Amino acid sequence: MSGLSDISYDNRTVLVTGGSGFLGSWMCETLLHKGAEVICLDNYASGRPENTEHLKNHPKFTRIVHDISKPYDPGRAVDLVCHLASRASPLEFEHYPIQILKSNTLGTMNALGIARKYEARFFFTSTSEIYGEAAIFPTPETYRGNVNTLGIRGCYDEAKRAGEAFCMAYFRQHGLDVRIARIFNTYGPRMRSDGHYGRVVPRFFDQAMHNEPITIFGDGTQTRSFCYVTDQITGLLRLAGLPGLKGEVVNIGNPVEYTILDLAKMIIDLTGSSSQLSYHPMPPDDPTRRVPDITKAREKLGWEPKVDIRDGLMMMKESNSGSVHRS
Ligand SMILES: NC(=O)c1ccc[n+]([C@@H]2O[C@H](COP(=O)([O-])OP(=O)(O)OC[C@H]3O[C@@H](n4cnc5c(N)ncnc54)[C@H](O)[C@@H]3O)[C@@H](O)[C@H]2O)c1
Repeated sequence: MSGLSDISYDNRTVLVTGGSGFLGSWMCETLLHKGAEVICLDNYASGRPENTEHLKNHPKFTRIVHDISKPYDPGRAVDLVCHLASRASPLEFEHYPIQILKSNTLGTMNALGIARKYEARFFFTSTSEIYGEAAIFPTPETYRGNVNTLGIRGCYDEAKRAGEAFCMAYFRQHGLDVRIARIFNTYGPRMRSDGHYGRVVPRFFDQAMHNEPITIFGDGTQTRSFCYVTDQITGLLRLAGLPGLKGEVVNIGNPVEYTILDLAKMIIDLTGSSSQLSYHPMPPDDPTRRVPDITKAREKLGWEPKVDIRDGLMMMKESNSGSVHRS
């Protein structure tokens, strides 16, 4: 299956927090294609209005500027609340730890409150980061994590863990239909490459396209698995849209593992760059391996990713998102 042809969002009203971010903008766009009415809420902390500019005049699309760590009431019925609002780049963890904690704790609580008030379904974007330095690979949803509350990544890992606990509390205490996606590294057009917003794929593209040294942390043998954005959004909207998944948590990611060196070499090849590799100390608590077990996604959602990394990187290159955001 893996597509969205068997799921209708026709005449459903969906609130997407973080809707003008990378994943949020793709989610808003896909929901509109599937017939939903979409309210996109964002405070532009890390997202940009340009990401949803092309949707601005759609009759079923509304943009609200608001910080979800403060209470919000859409003032109209909603059928689904998708809570994506959170800075997500590891380089932001150092600069904005309080905002990150607030978006995933107070923000999750406020977003759950909206779902409860309007008897809506609730969908939370958690992360593979909640597994920390995992001990089981590929990592299944049953693995409980090995994280450092005091480290620099603690603001994100622990906030997401608290967000998951908030979801399960509303599920148990109020019977709310909550679903939690643990997202593994996702890449694609509209990711920022600039400054501390730049995650590894757009940063490598940006450096390669400018023939600058590619920044490798450690010796580059640490692994990640990279999911192309359209695959990711399909997985997320299957989890949010299918019946019978109340209280479920599902890994959504690509199970093919690459080293960071593999990624750098693929991007250098693809761009015909003369960039050299430049080695830097490994940031504290950076996980050495990251690969999802997606058995549950295959079984419960009938989903698995389709896009090969070389095709995905090529689509990203053609969208020019590796370098357009350099200021
Ligand atoms: N992209 C990935 O690989 C990945 C991996 C794991 C988890 N996630 C999760 O998916 C979600 C979306 O991530 P993304 O990659 O699109 O990041 P992003 O930074 O592009 O998008 C996040 C959006 O949330 C908005 N935001 C942040 N704090 C807010 C607040 N308090 N109130 C309202 N809006 C706020 C930002 O302005 C931005 O538009 C995040 O919750 C992130 O933790 C993403």
